[in-house]
Amino acid sequence: MRPYEGKNFLLVEHGEDRKRFTLEALRREGVNLFIATSTTPDWLTDYTAPENIIRTDPYNSFRLLADITAYSEFHGIAFDGIGTFTEHTVIQTADTAYACGLPGLDPRAARRSSSNKLLMKKHCREAGIPVARSRVIPCLDRNHLELALRELGTPCVIKPIFGSDSYGVIKIERHSRLDEVSREILNNTRASKQEVFKNFGGTFLLEEYVPGTMISVDGIVSSGNILIAGAVEYVMGPEPHFTQEANYIPARIGVSELDSARTLLVDVIHGLGFDNTGFHCEMRLGPDGPVLIEIAARLPGGPLQLGYLQSTGIDLTREIIHVWLGEKPRFVQSRTRHVLQKAVFPRTAGTIRMAPFDSPCSGGGDGPVWDFKLFASDGEQARTYPEIPRPLYYYALEAATAHELQELSERLESSIAIEVKCPRNAQETSDEQDFHVAPEPQDRQAAHQAFDHTRL
Ligand SMILES: Nc1ncnc2c1ncn2[C@@H]1O[C@H](COP(=O)(O)OP(=O)(O)OP(=O)(O)O)[C@@H](O)[C@H]1O
Ligand SMILES: [Mg+2]
Repeated sequence: MRPYEGKNFLLVEHGEDRKRFTLEALRREGVNLFIATSTTPDWLTDYTAPENIIRTDPYNSFRLLADITAYSEFHGIAFDGIGTFTEHTVIQTADTAYACGLPGLDPRAARRSSSNKLLMKKHCREAGIPVARSRVIPCLDRNHLELALRELGTPCVIKPIFGSDSYGVIKIERHSRLDEVSREILNNTRASKQEVFKNFGGTFLLEEYVPGTMISVDGIVSSGNILIAGAVEYVMGPEPHFTQEANYIPARIGVSELDSARTLLVDVIHGLGFDNTGFHCEMRLGPDGPVLIEIAARLPGGPLQLGYLQSTGIDLTREIIHVWLGEKPRFVQSRTRHVLQKAVFPRTAGTIRMAPFDSPCSGGGDGPVWDFKLFASDGEQARTYPEIPRPLYYYALEAATAHELQELSERLESSIAIEVKCPRNAQETSDEQDFHVAPEPQDRQAAHQAFDHTRL
């Protein structure tokens, strides 16, 4: 069945290879697909005709709307729906939908999401929602960083005012080397690392560190009605970085924790005014209850939409397409499976050594290993921090119980022999030194010199 045959749908950004499943979902729905994008990978024409690809700057609302209007008028095409699956085009898509009179997220609410973590936090704080205390760092130099650190104390987390995939997000502790931290963050928030950073003005947030299990609550709001698909639990990589290395669906948390997470989510959605959108609400389950980390006004990214489908039978991708085309979404839980999706990362830089092996994923993807991707190749250099790390491989499993899932995961990982050989002289010395809060203004000169040459 192709329910939306003949409908003209405009997708803003394709989301690169890892979001191809969203294009497949749009194809299944039968829409006549148009894509507004700044990049045109070869495979894009597998999903739509070259003349349906609109070259524009989707990071710029003004330009996007002008180009879409001109395209629509010139080709005599009226769009029936518009949407995006990518974080950095949420605002622009909301603006365009609003201007064209199509279903979408209130553009004011779009701006109060993870697209602007400061505005998001401000609104939440005013609505009485627990968020981490924070300070703005208008530009990342030693004065601003020291001042914010003195006010907040350690441990804390520094992050760009917008971003994704934890680019430029680092924990700062007493012994952190501030010059190295700053260098790494500035390196990973450049436009060459992620296109969105071409619009980054250099504002960072410093937040107090919230301990506790990291989860997200995900779903769709439609005409103000909140539908929750479930909660995901994340396994984070080693700090001070924050890579989401693995996720469990459902989250392995108790009923009362889940209840308080859902309550927080509802407060956040109401506080920010989300009306018609997918949402991905990240929180830490702190000692005093859940604390909001951020909420994105889009569906969960990475492989999570597929994870929910496998675990619950709820097809978030399909349901949000229905919302964009003016229909009500329906969440029917038809499965209760335990799912683990995990990217295995190198813990050190070095040369990858591996022998060829058969994919553990059965042909149709219908066994317990329902997805597997190998990124590593023999002889290649493994990439890890301070550069954004690249996984060695990724797998997705499902099982009837959490215990069975764990056993499957251990068996799978022990069957894959990939080693990273460090260069001999790469043994780093870790002569840690405490972070000292910078002296008061009369001693600023000394502090400047200290920052330039050593860790503080
Ligand atoms: N205040 C905090 N306390 C503890 N951990 C935090 C805090 N802020 C961020 N983190 C951790 O850092 C990760 C990334 O932060 P954040 O979500 O704000 O950035 P992001 O770039 O949007 O990342 P992603 O796209 O991976 O979610 C979070 O998943 C969380 O584990
Ligand atoms: Mg996040």
